[in-house]
Amino acid sequence: MLLSGNTILITGGTSGIGRALAEAFHQRGNRVIIAGRRQALLDEISAAHPGMQGMPLDADDARAVGAFALEIGERFPDLNVLINNAGISKPEDFTANSVDLSAARAIIQTNILGVLEITAALLPTLERQPASTIITTSSGLAFMPRANFPTYCASKAFLHSWLQSLRFQLRKTPVEVLELIAPYVQTELTGQSQAADPHAMPLADYVAEVMQMLEQPIPPSGELLARRAEALRWAEKNGEYEQLFSARNGR
Ligand SMILES: NC(=O)c1ccc[n+]([C@@H]2O[C@H](COP(=O)([O-])OP(=O)(O)OC[C@H]3O[C@@H](n4cnc5c(N)ncnc54)[C@H](OP(=O)(O)O)[C@@H]3O)[C@@H](O)[C@H]2O)c1
Repeated sequence: MLLSGNTILITGGTSGIGRALAEAFHQRGNRVIIAGRRQALLDEISAAHPGMQGMPLDADDARAVGAFALEIGERFPDLNVLINNAGISKPEDFTANSVDLSAARAIIQTNILGVLEITAALLPTLERQPASTIITTSSGLAFMPRANFPTYCASKAFLHSWLQSLRFQLRKTPVEVLELIAPYVQTELTGQSQAADPHAMPLADYVAEVMQMLEQPIPPSGELLARRAEALRWAEKNGEYEQLFSARNGR
């Protein structure tokens, strides 16, 4: 994809990776629309970046997604990039006496069904363009779970599989399908401490790497694999899966 002149919708654009991508694309001369639930942040971020638009969206609400897509089609008929980035992460304990599935339900709703709903609703607009791109944020954890985040990791493994099928189904259309395989990054995804965790990649460095990857020829796999996620992505192929799983999760 070209890195300027696009009309780009970024879900989860109110914070973390989505916000930083929105700012990077805006700086490079793209029309950027950010979406999320926190109206105050949509207002603040769009005001700080003249031309950027903020649109409220709860990806968990299928009816709202339909109305949102209709509005996008009317206001931004030239939309040619969708960045499916909204996501949540919560730990879960399946050894508890009474297992609480509320976190699992919420994660499946936002990280899986939300992505499918938005993609399906916006595909007609994307398919009308001469060239368009869907970028979806998965994770290195799609390939090697952190065992205390079971449904979160599985949701990203779901996206990895689903994106391969989507890419294949759309191969004869103008829509390219990319997977952003993110490493552990300093955002508030799991709470404030993650944003200051020295083991996590600084957000600005990660977004700079994403923009660099987008400048290079895209591999046929459609995977934008961050260097810091390579060990997880290739652990099985490299015969290191069990060793790395134990090293990361304990015994
Ligand atoms: N940070 C990491 O280490 C890491 C690693 C791999 C992958 N990722 C993925 O990167 C993506 C962005 O996460 P982040 O790390 O930047 O965390 P973040 O700062 O918490 O961002 C999450 C974004 O998702 C939005 N969101 C959550 N639920 C939503 C809903 N129901 N409807 C609409 N928007 C919703 C939030 O906006 P509102 O609250 O305003 O709705 C927020 O903008 C996620 O998909 C995450 O799984 C992150």
